Amino acid sequence: MTSLAGKSVLLIVGGGIAAYKAHELVRLLKTRGAAIRIILTKAAEQFVTPLSLASLSGEKVHTSLFSLTDEVEMGHIQLSRAADLVVVAPATADLIAKMANGLAGDLATTTLLATDKPVLIAPAMNLRMWRHPATVRNVETLKRDGLALTGPNDGEMACGEFGPGRMAEPDEILAAIVGMLKPRAQPLAGKKVLITAGPTREPIDPVRFISNYSSGKQGYAIARAAVELGAETILVSGPVSLPIPPGVQMMPIETAQEMLEICQGELPADIAVFTAAVADWRVAAEAAEKLKKTGNAPPGLSLAENPDILATISRDPRRPRIVVGFAAETEKVTEHAAEKLKNKGCDLIVANDVGRESGVFGGDRNTVHLVSTAGIENWPNMSKDEVARKLMERLARMLAPDRKAAE
Ligand code: PMT
Repeated sequence: MTSLAGKSVLLIVGGGIAAYKAHELVRLLKTRGAAIRIILTKAAEQFVTPLSLASLSGEKVHTSLFSLTDEVEMGHIQLSRAADLVVVAPATADLIAKMANGLAGDLATTTLLATDKPVLIAPAMNLRMWRHPATVRNVETLKRDGLALTGPNDGEMACGEFGPGRMAEPDEILAAIVGMLKPRAQPLAGKKVLITAGPTREPIDPVRFISNYSSGKQGYAIARAAVELGAETILVSGPVSLPIPPGVQMMPIETAQEMLEICQGELPADIAVFTAAVADWRVAAEAAEKLKKTGNAPPGLSLAENPDILATISRDPRRPRIVVGFAAETEKVTEHAAEKLKNKGCDLIVANDVGRESGVFGGDRNTVHLVSTAGIENWPNMSKDEVARKLMERLARMLAPDRKAAE
C-alpha cells in the first residue's frame, strides 16, 4: 500500500449527487497518510455538509471566497499552492465548463485558476450531459491544458439512465491520485531534446501560402512527454493553435528554411524527434505583391525543393545521439518508412497512416509502426499522448540502456 505521508491533496467537491462519495475518498486518503484540505462549492453544500467532511478530514472545510477569516487564515492562492495535487470530485458539467473557460467567480474556480499544481478531475453527470458537444469540447480543452481525468464509468445513474457519466469509485480516484503523486523517474534530466512539430507555411505572395493539415498535436504531445522525463525541451513549431506546453522552450517558425536554421542553431542535442509536416516544396520566387486575376489563365506556380531538415541534421557533424523521423504515408506505410530510414540517415522512423479515413492529421489518436534496422514494431491504436510517452521512454532507454526509464 503506497503511503501518501508528507503529501497534501486539495479536494474540490462539486455539486452533484456523487458528492456523497467524497466522504469515502477523504477516508481513503487519510488512511494513506495524506494531508487533505477541502473546498465545497455552493451547489455541493446541497449534497454534503462542511461539518461531515471536516469531521472526516480533521481540517476546516472552505466554502467562500469572500470569507475574511478564511482569507486571513489561508487565502485561496495559498490553498492552491500548498497542495501537491488538486482533485475535483465530482467534477460536474458546470464546473468543467467554468474551468475550461477560465471563469473564477467563486472559491473553487478561483483556486483552480490560480493553481500551478497538477489537477485531476473525476467527472460525474448525466450521460446526455457528458455526450453533449459543449461538454466534449470543454473536456478536450482541459485535456489539452494538461489536466488528468479519471472516469467517468459506465453504469446506472441516479437519474435512472444507463451509460457513461458515473463518477469513478473512490478507490479508483485514490489509485489515480497515488499514480500522480508517485515520484517520477527523470531519465532525461540534463539531456537536451529537440522536437519539430506542426506544418510549415511556404508563401506564394503576401497573402497566400502552401501548407498542410498538421495540427501539431503529436509533436506537442512528444514535447510534453520529454518535459515529464526531465529533458531540456526545445519545440520548433510551425503555426498551430495549441497552447505552449509548460516547461518547453518554444521556437516558432513559418517556413521549412526557418525550421532548418533554428534546428541547426540548437545543436548539439542528445535526441531529435522530427514530427513536423514540412512542406517538401516552396514557391521558387515568392511574389512581392498579391497575385492578381488577369482574366487570362491562372498563374502557374513554379516550385523549388525545400531542404530536408531530418536528413541535414542526421548528417551534421554535431548530429544528436538519437535522430527520429516520422513518416506520413497513405499506402505501403512501413515499406516507404523503411526507405526513408535509409535515405534520411536517422536511427528510427515512426510511421503512421495519414490517409483521410485514419483521422491522424488533426485527430487525437494514432497507430504507429516503429521502423529501424532491427525490424518493425507495430504499436496498437493509442492516444497521441500515449504514443508520445511510450516513444520518449523508449528513446530515454536507448540513450542510457543501463538506466531504467520512467518506472
Ligand atoms: O500534427 P498532427 O495533426 O498531430 O499530425 C501528426 C503528423 C501526421 C503530422 C505526424 O504524426 C507525422 O507523421 N509527421 C511527419 C510528417 C511528414 O512530413 O512526413 P514525411 O513522410 O513527409 O517526412 C518524413 C520525415 O522527414 C518527417 O520526420 C519530416 O519531419 C521530415 N522532413 C520532411 C521534409 C522536409 N523537407 N524536411 C524534413 O525534415
